[in-house]
Amino acid sequence: MNEKLSNNEIKTLPFMDSNLDLEKRVEDLLGRLTLKEKFTLCSGKRSFYTKPIRRLGIRSFKMTDGPHGIGPHSSKNAECTYFPTAICRAATWNPELSEQFGVAVAQEVRDIGYHMILGPGVNIHRTPLCGRNFEYQTEDPYLNKKMAVPVVKGVQSQKIAACVKHYICNNQEMNRFTVSSEVSERALQEIYLPAFEATVREADAWSFMGCYNKVNGIYGCEHKNLIKEKLMEEWGFRGFVVSDWIATAKTTSTESCINAGLTLEMPVQIKYKKKLLKQALLEGKITEETLNENIIRLLRVMFLVGFIDDESSIPQASRNTPEHQAISRKIAEEGIVLLKNKNNILPLNIDTLKKIAVIGPNADKKMGEDGGSSQVRPPYEITPLQGLKNKCRNKVEIVISPSEADLVIVFAGLNHKKGMDSEHADRDSFDLPSEQIELINKTAQENHKTIVVLINGSPVNMVGWIENIPAVIEAWYAGQEAGNAIADILFGDVNPLGKLPITFPKKLSDSPAHVSTRTYPGNEKVFYDEGIFVGYRHFDTKNIKPLFSFGYGLSYTTFAYDNLKIDKKKVSEDDKFTVSVDITNSGDRAGAEVAQLYVQDIECSVDRPLKELKVFKKIKLEPGEKKTVIFKLEKRDLSFFDEINNCWKAEKGIFKILIGSSSRDIRLQAEIEYLG
Ligand code: BGC
Repeated sequence: MNEKLSNNEIKTLPFMDSNLDLEKRVEDLLGRLTLKEKFTLCSGKRSFYTKPIRRLGIRSFKMTDGPHGIGPHSSKNAECTYFPTAICRAATWNPELSEQFGVAVAQEVRDIGYHMILGPGVNIHRTPLCGRNFEYQTEDPYLNKKMAVPVVKGVQSQKIAACVKHYICNNQEMNRFTVSSEVSERALQEIYLPAFEATVREADAWSFMGCYNKVNGIYGCEHKNLIKEKLMEEWGFRGFVVSDWIATAKTTSTESCINAGLTLEMPVQIKYKKKLLKQALLEGKITEETLNENIIRLLRVMFLVGFIDDESSIPQASRNTPEHQAISRKIAEEGIVLLKNKNNILPLNIDTLKKIAVIGPNADKKMGEDGGSSQVRPPYEITPLQGLKNKCRNKVEIVISPSEADLVIVFAGLNHKKGMDSEHADRDSFDLPSEQIELINKTAQENHKTIVVLINGSPVNMVGWIENIPAVIEAWYAGQEAGNAIADILFGDVNPLGKLPITFPKKLSDSPAHVSTRTYPGNEKVFYDEGIFVGYRHFDTKNIKPLFSFGYGLSYTTFAYDNLKIDKKKVSEDDKFTVSVDITNSGDRAGAEVAQLYVQDIECSVDRPLKELKVFKKIKLEPGEKKTVIFKLEKRDLSFFDEINNCWKAEKGIFKILIGSSSRDIRLQAEIEYLG
């Protein structure tokens, strides 16, 4: 059984035959593994590899961080394209760009000879303070899934596995190794699970990463209900679950992880030491059948990524190409959000400006090579100052003194230092550092034409300075081309195209997770008392005015909405119905609008949010151009998760269909009656 085979002998084995059916290859290889070799495959080696089974010619399966480019720490310091972080990509509201990103990042993973990228990260933004918000997409479950599914599709189209993380409710870094997220089934179903579920049902995700934290008292990596029952049995996941790095350390036992369906323990063996696995088997706490089920999943993904197959049969690799850099820039251009533009101070006119002052701590700061496990090492990073120098060369002088300039641009915000937007800890404060607030206000006094560009990955407090500033741009961490994209937007070569994927509160205590210390940061437990009222669902329903609402973002042009039509006013259980609206670019520049459709249930036996995003479309329009946008809806879009009957349910009655330019800028509305 365990004899050593020559390379030529290995080549003749059925699992080596790429023409053979995938499941047959898996079955054949599994049948050749000794028990010891199966144990070997259960845990990692050298931080980002599985252990090889040399006897059968099985190399290490290699994983790299993730999520917005290859991590140098997990790739022997490889240089790679630094793509905009997830929050910026989500702010594009452009699923096509998500897919292009997925394809490009996978080509880079293949280029370094790896098989899986540890991303996308699709945890919901529950609190503005979560240190990893920049790595996550949004507060809204629909936008989350719409932007996550194409990433997974794009990555896997290149035969590289995506690893959707961190499953689930790792919504804060504070106490992440010990805290239990106490969350209702309804909130799980309506808010936290949808993107994870969609990456399985719609994109066939090949891997999931189990989280560090507990969910309702059970660690993610040993959570049978979440892994075995929901992910595998209900959603039909055929890939494998890997632990977050050392996340098994605190789990109760070897058998609880094996029986929950956790295939791979990373980065080294803790609960999956051979001795422990053997003992669990001998004591009947696990069966070889269960072990096999877990191993099969890893073998399947190994075959799916073309692991054993001839190089010529797998997609082409490439890295740091002009094409990838162009995708990075495009995402930056589409994701940067114009928040304020009093008296149309923007865009700037390159022909009339003589001198601009460029100041602030983030003006010339590179951001990519920091941030915990999501750090990247790009071949270059265009800082905002560099981008402005590129743009202004021989046309506008760049100085540092606000008083001698025609206008000032202050680059403020956060960075990836511990206590800001970074892994391992949450943000220390909702405020900008006090010296930045002083700088902004002092500069605004010296020069009333002071524009603030924020570089950060989660909302910051702006009250106390924004009133004094005519224009504010949210530029996120927008990748290695950020500086060029920012300059293009400031000077109007690009008309802002981004919309906020999160709510910006006026003050932290307005935010639903910040009602008490029980709801954040918690201690052993953090209580998600707000239930489904996360993000704008909370602000709308409680009638709290945010500083900037979900879905908001200005353009240098304007859009008019009219002619709302619904094809059915009365909708029955199996009906699909269509809503259409005309959108016209009513300004004088080409631009893009994200038309957002929200649904409101007028009367329901359970509390429902004032509105929920159900569908959106981003459309590009030339000045004066009009397009009809068509949205398709069905019963599920009217439904809530009924905890009593454990199913989705729509109740009969009137629903409002709200169409707007943001969650708080509803332009048109109509009603339908759901007949059941
Ligand atoms: C992070 C993961 C990351 C892993 C490997 C963990 O600390 O939570 O997101 O993929 O490390 O670097």
